[in-house]
Amino acid sequence: MRRYVVTPGEGIGGLRIETAAPPQPARGQVLVAMKAASLNYRDLMILGGQYPGMDATPVVPLSDGTGEVIAIGEGVSRFAVGDRVAGIFLQSWAGGTITDADIGSALGGGIDGVLAEQCLFSEQGLVAIPDHLTYEQAATLPCAGVTAWNALFGARSLIAGQTVLTLGTGGVSMFAIQFALAAGARVIATSSSDAKLARVRDMGVADTINYSATPEWGAETRRLTGGRGVDTVVEVGGPGTLAKSIEATARDGIVQLIGVLSFAQIDPLPILTSGITVRGFMVGPREMFEAMNRAISQHKIVPVIDRVFPFEDAAAAYAHIQSAGHFGKVVIRIAD
Ligand SMILES: NC(=O)c1ccc[n+]([C@@H]2O[C@H](COP(=O)([O-])OP(=O)(O)OC[C@H]3O[C@@H](n4cnc5c(N)ncnc54)[C@H](OP(=O)(O)O)[C@@H]3O)[C@@H](O)[C@H]2O)c1
Repeated sequence: MRRYVVTPGEGIGGLRIETAAPPQPARGQVLVAMKAASLNYRDLMILGGQYPGMDATPVVPLSDGTGEVIAIGEGVSRFAVGDRVAGIFLQSWAGGTITDADIGSALGGGIDGVLAEQCLFSEQGLVAIPDHLTYEQAATLPCAGVTAWNALFGARSLIAGQTVLTLGTGGVSMFAIQFALAAGARVIATSSSDAKLARVRDMGVADTINYSATPEWGAETRRLTGGRGVDTVVEVGGPGTLAKSIEATARDGIVQLIGVLSFAQIDPLPILTSGITVRGFMVGPREMFEAMNRAISQHKIVPVIDRVFPFEDAAAAYAHIQSAGHFGKVVIRIAD
C-alpha cells in the first residue's frame, strides 16, 4: 500500500509517496481502507516546522481521514468489517480531562496520520460517520468540525437567540457558522473577501463584516449588537485579532481561543473589567465527536468543501490551503 511521508520542516516539497507492507490488525485494532482525508491549517504548520512539540522525525501526515473497515483484530467489539469510520484527532482521548499522553496521540503529529491507503487504529480511536455524508464530506469532521463543536457546546453551551462571532471562512469557522445557525443562534461572520461573505449570507448569516475593509471590526460587531457585544467568539485568528475579539464580546461572554496567539500582546484589563472568559482547548474528545455526529445527522448538515484533490496531488492541496483562497475545507480523495 502507498502512503505519504514527510519530515517536519521540509515544507510542501518534502512530501513523498512510499510503499509499505499492508498492516495487520493486532488485538483491539481495526484496519481501515482509507477513502478520503482533509487538511487543516495545522498540517501546513507541521510541514513548515512551526508546530509546537514536533521534532524532525518523519511522519505520515494529516489527522482527518475516513474509510471502510476491512479487517478487525481479536476482541474488537465496537466495529465490524464494512463499517464507515473516521479516526479521532487525539487517538487516546475518549472523554474527561485531556492529558499530556492524549496530546502526544495526535494523528499526523505525535503518531502517524491518515494520508495512506490503509491505516491501523485502536477501536477506541474511531467513530462511525453520519449515514448521509460521503467519505469526502465526513473526512472534514475530526479536527475542524469537533473544534467548532467544542467551542460552541463543549464548556458553556450556546443557547438559542445568543450571538456568535466567527472570524474568516476557513474550516473551523465554517463549521461554527453551520452549528450556530442550527442551534438557533445569530451569527456575525467576518472575512477578507466580499465574495466569500456573499456565500456566507447565502447560508443564512444576516450580518457580515469585511475585516480588511473594516479594520475596526470589533467595534463594528458591538454596533451590530446595539452596543452589547456577542456571547461567544470563535477566535481562530492570531496575534492582532484577540484584542478586537475581546472588544466584540459582551459582559460575561466567552472567547473560545482556538488559533495560536501571543498573550504578550494582549491588554488583560478589558478581560477583567468585562468579566469575559477566555477559554483555550485542543479539538475535543471522542464523546464530543459522537455528540456532534448526532447533531449533524439530526439536522442533515453537510460540510462545506472547497475542493477535492487526487491522492497523487497532495502537494497541490497543501498549496491551496497556503494560498488562503479556500472557502471551507480542502479534501484529498484517497480511493473511490
Ligand atoms: N485549538 C485547536 O484545537 C485548533 C483546532 C483547529 C484549528 N486551530 C487553529 O485555528 C486556526 C484556523 O484553522 P483552520 O484549519 O480553520 O484554518 P483555515 O481553514 O486555513 O482558515 C484560513 C482562513 O482564516 C481566515 N483568516 C486568516 N487570518 C485571519 C485574520 N487575521 N482574521 C480573521 N480571519 C483570518 C481567512 O479567511 P477569509 O479568507 O475568509 O478572510 C483564511 O482563509 C489555525 O490557527 C489553527 O491552527 C486550532
